[in-house]
Amino acid sequence: MCGIIGYVGNEECAPILLEGLRRLEYRGYDSAGVAVHDGTELRVLRAAGKLTALGDALARTPVHGTTGIGHTRWATHGKPSEHNAHPHVSGGIAVVHNGIIENHVELKQRLKAEGREFLSDTDTEIVAHLVDLATQRGLDLFEALRSALREIRGAYAIAVMSKSDPARIVLAKNASPLVVGIGDGVMLAASDVPALLSHTRDVIFLEDGEMAEITRAKVRLERVDGTRVDRAPVRITWSLMQAERGGYKHFMLKEIHEQPRALEDTLRGRVVLETGDFEAGEMGIGDDDAKTVKRVILLACGTSYHAALHGRYLLEGLARVPAVAELASEFRYRNPVVGPGDLVVAVSQSGETADTLAAAKEAKERGARILAVVNVQGSAIARMAHGTLYTHAGPEIGVASTKCFTAQLAALTMLSIYLGRRRGAVTREVGVALLAELVAVPNKMRDVLATARHIETVARSIMHARDALFLGRGLSSAVALEGALKLKEISYVHAEGYAGGEMKHGPLALVDRDMPVVCLLPSDSTLEKMQSNVQEVRARDGQVIAVVDDDKAAASLAAHTLKVPPTHEWFTPLLTSIPLQLLSYYVADLRGTDVDQPRNLAKTVTVE
Ligand code: F6R
Repeated sequence: MCGIIGYVGNEECAPILLEGLRRLEYRGYDSAGVAVHDGTELRVLRAAGKLTALGDALARTPVHGTTGIGHTRWATHGKPSEHNAHPHVSGGIAVVHNGIIENHVELKQRLKAEGREFLSDTDTEIVAHLVDLATQRGLDLFEALRSALREIRGAYAIAVMSKSDPARIVLAKNASPLVVGIGDGVMLAASDVPALLSHTRDVIFLEDGEMAEITRAKVRLERVDGTRVDRAPVRITWSLMQAERGGYKHFMLKEIHEQPRALEDTLRGRVVLETGDFEAGEMGIGDDDAKTVKRVILLACGTSYHAALHGRYLLEGLARVPAVAELASEFRYRNPVVGPGDLVVAVSQSGETADTLAAAKEAKERGARILAVVNVQGSAIARMAHGTLYTHAGPEIGVASTKCFTAQLAALTMLSIYLGRRRGAVTREVGVALLAELVAVPNKMRDVLATARHIETVARSIMHARDALFLGRGLSSAVALEGALKLKEISYVHAEGYAGGEMKHGPLALVDRDMPVVCLLPSDSTLEKMQSNVQEVRARDGQVIAVVDDDKAAASLAAHTLKVPPTHEWFTPLLTSIPLQLLSYYVADLRGTDVDQPRNLAKTVTVE
């Protein structure tokens, strides 16, 4: 997601800001900008595209000054473009922001009614207006930000500068990362440590609900509620490479650990707990459209196809609408019957996959309504669709998709409950109960991630296997397929995923003592049948690795159990996917493969 840098010191800051943003490039971005105080004015420069474009703009129009903020933007609200790039300015205030302001629609309406003009489509510009209004009421910059924070809800890391305060930056954090760097007569702030390392290794990580003020000589730290915070700086000993990965060995591992946050961000601002419903947002599906959808066709490739397969269960089970999941790469080759009345959901992490794009275009030409479930704003599939349901997983750098997969599962859950509420298949009461549990899932994901060490030990016991089988039924069948894909793509161990009921129809022939068989055994209606599969594997000496939410489920039959907390059966895949991702990761790492860049694979497949 976006990158923030701030500098208050004695040197020309534009090159320092640019360099800091370069260190944050790994986070992904589509535009960038800086605001520098030149002693009299705030000078703002922004550019769409890569940092070289911002560098060129700075070369054409140099800005001089020793206090500044900079930003790389990963679009969430409003297309990637220069006018949506940060900093956003209102009066004498410049703001950069990472995160999502949940109540931006109502705040924008109110501010517009008060005569405020908006120059961008972003949620961030609201913050600039709120801080500007507060300074006009006579508050100093720190108090003005505090007053703005009391009005906004959501996730944010914010850095603010004022024209009337040439050597001060104020900061706030809630649910998005922000760290202050303490140098000698120099203070910095950044989204992540790599941007600070060439200036200092002494840092203070801000916590949620905290604000800070940095000047050349001082850091002031407080909670938004006014409580003072005293926190000693910590010394960073990571190398630059480690720092970019947040201390994790690989991006994939970092991204696996980012899943609770990715899920929270995907749900943020969309869940209406009181009514058991979701906001339509930019889906472009009104109440009448939801009622009249005759069929949903989910189109996707690879991991996204596995999310689509799960989406089919959700849409039929929760929304009671006929649904099919299709490999986008096959869709066009069979002259599909598709047209008005069909809702085609194109599921794609990148939003650029050539097969998914081409299949969705074909369906659109034949009269179907297209909804894009994508992670990248303004991507080709998002542009051609009638509506969008963005997953807010943030950029995924590891080639093997992890956090985007679970975010896709969450998005398809939202779509299913949304349609179900309008079609009368999900009552208000059921919706309220489902959503109350769904918002609890991120913390349950954290519990699963805390078992990573145990999963590594299990991975050690199967790291030399030549083949592996993954079995799951019903709501776990797509998870089994995805588990097998993950293992094969990063560890090069041959793996097959099967619906449990299919085992006897062929794959059972492969099972012997050298074959690890990963069985998904959550306590749902398929448990007993899956337990029979386990017995069959054990009878052939197969090595069972059981993923359970109840220790009794696998009892003495499994060689290893991987435990997840219980949740509603519709949400179990959000949890059971994680041990499988970690298992694949550790097997691959132990075998010494290039985890983040597996051989022969590309992150975005733009050829058919
Ligand atoms: C595997 C993986 C791929 C992608 C597939 C589609 O880990 O990431 O299978 O899922 O190439 O890509 P998107 O989702 O970008 O359409």
